[in-house]
Amino acid sequence: MGMTRLIDTAAVPDGEGRAVALDGIEPIAVFNVGGTFFVTQDTCSHAKASLTEGWLEGHEVCCPVHDGRFDLCSGKALCFPATDPIQTFTAQVQDGAVWADISTARPGRPAKD
Ligand code: FES
Repeated sequence: MGMTRLIDTAAVPDGEGRAVALDGIEPIAVFNVGGTFFVTQDTCSHAKASLTEGWLEGHEVCCPVHDGRFDLCSGKALCFPATDPIQTFTAQVQDGAVWADISTARPGRPAKD
């Protein structure tokens, strides 16, 4: 279980999220909640919206398209129409960056850049 460097901590302001595109897997989301970082899949489990384009309310992210809501700790869907959970990944901060074990991330298209 290796850790992958995702993004500089300074690139994810408190209360926001950033999507990280990596080759061959679905986009990964990094969220900053009061200086604690959470890593999840970026794609909403309902209809493919980018969750980092939504907004945070505490440890929950709200989908920008249909207002689905997910717990960043467990990935659990909290609000209709989202019913399936999102993937969450173990994150850690090291050397000014957020790292996570994304070995279980779902396969996806190659990153564009
Ligand atoms: S796309 Fe996220 S709730 Fe529908």
